[in-house]
Amino acid sequence: MKHITYQGLNFRKFIAEADLRSRISEMAREISARYAGKNPLLVCVLTGAAPFAVDLFRALDIDAEIAFIRFKSYEGMASTGEVRQVMGLTEPVDGRDVIIVEDIIDTGRTMKLLKAQFEELGPRSLAVATLLSKPSARKVEVEADWTGFEIPDRFIIGYGLDIDGQARNLNDIYVLDSESSPGNSEA
Ligand code: IMP
Ligand code: MG
Repeated sequence: MKHITYQGLNFRKFIAEADLRSRISEMAREISARYAGKNPLLVCVLTGAAPFAVDLFRALDIDAEIAFIRFKSYEGMASTGEVRQVMGLTEPVDGRDVIIVEDIIDTGRTMKLLKAQFEELGPRSLAVATLLSKPSARKVEVEADWTGFEIPDRFIIGYGLDIDGQARNLNDIYVLDSESSPGNSEA
């Protein structure tokens, strides 16, 4: 299936499952080499990063742990939506080698806030692994230690990434066809 439709929008296949798998294996090899003997704690940011974080974790060949958090917005309290708090972290982080695992860095705002909150918890080291990054969409400066794929500033779905909660269970990643994007005048 090369083309799919969600909410009247057309998407085409962009990154195939096999390419995701081989890139994640490469990232896992690098992370395993860097963290051998350190028992790193992978922190998966729910919900979008779940498939990537689990596959990355399973591909590591060193001792490691995984934890799952939510990064919750309190938009009722702050109209800007910038008051956001890490929720659900049960494992102590102080003195640990922590790797935040995200699906995508877009404007960078989420990762910037996440990193700041984790730094306050006193990890021995803090790193970021993101499956995807849109460098041209960056509004605040933040970089990942491992990036699976750099992609253009286009809306994508699948492999954890959603459109209103849908499409996370697709095993390939799809990109919005520019012709079906209202207001996008590019060819
Ligand atoms: P940032 O704070 O702008 O970097 O946003 C990061 C979050 O926006 C990600 O964790 C995703 O949940 C969401 N996001 C950014 N780009 C996309 C996309 O193309 N498709 C689906 N979700 C996206
Ligand atoms: Mg996310």
